[in-house]
Amino acid sequence: MDSVSFDRIADRYDDTRGGIDRGRRFAAVIDPFLEPGDDLLEIGVGTGVIAQPLQTLGHHVIGIDLSREMLSRSRDRVESVVEGDATRLPFASERFDAVVAVWAVHLIGDFDALIDEVDRVMRPGSPLLVVSSTPDVEPNDLSDIAFRFGKALGRGRDRSRYLVDRLTPHGFTHETDVATDEHDFEESPMDRAAMIERRDWSSLWDLDDSAWRRVVQPVIDDLRALPEPDRPRRCLHRHILSVYRGPS
Ligand SMILES: C[S@@+](CC[C@H](N)C(=O)[O-])C[C@H]1O[C@@H](n2cnc3c(N)ncnc32)[C@H](O)[C@@H]1O
Repeated sequence: MDSVSFDRIADRYDDTRGGIDRGRRFAAVIDPFLEPGDDLLEIGVGTGVIAQPLQTLGHHVIGIDLSREMLSRSRDRVESVVEGDATRLPFASERFDAVVAVWAVHLIGDFDALIDEVDRVMRPGSPLLVVSSTPDVEPNDLSDIAFRFGKALGRGRDRSRYLVDRLTPHGFTHETDVATDEHDFEESPMDRAAMIERRDWSSLWDLDDSAWRRVVQPVIDDLRALPEPDRPRRCLHRHILSVYRGPS
């Protein structure tokens, strides 16, 4: 798999992914696992919505991202951003006190190269803090359909259940999982169908017509066939921060 650059959604990324408010909520969950004034690397820094609140909390952040368009939005928010690939980090060994990756690990093509590089640039025994892009969801009729869909698209590759097996051979240990606060919002089946049709999620970007017909169109049809498809449903999502410790 190739890494997925977010160039194509940079102009509506903050609007469709919770913006700086989400960043503040996630930074508050990450901060207790850091030391005051830590030097951090954020992998897949994007528009800087996580890095900026981490800076406000007193940390120093260098962000790296493949996407020039995303970086053009984070340059004003983050102390230092670098265009580059997380599997070939342009930093000296043992440069960082911790590495943060929010909604990014599942997009990176060569996972083993990523982890070798993270291990190299982290001081020995430092934390690697990963927030999964797949939340824990309070079940409702929307989430039942979303679950089947996510499975078909191979989502969940950055959940701790999956990552532990891949990080352990590199000498990392899993310390804990912590939930972010509850994201409480309303969405109707028609809203969700429209998001899918707009291909808001990166897992939909590169599907060809045949995969779309086989996997995606039935989901859109099922959403529209739900009772009262215009009625908003209450949705409760919690994202999970997983804390790993690098080799000493
Ligand atoms: C979903 S965004 C997350 C941005 C930010 N962390 C946040 O939570 O808003 C993922 C970012 O990872 C970047 N990315 C994907 N593969 C990458 C790689 N191999 N190296 C660096 N960045 C990468 C994408 O361009 C995108 O900006």
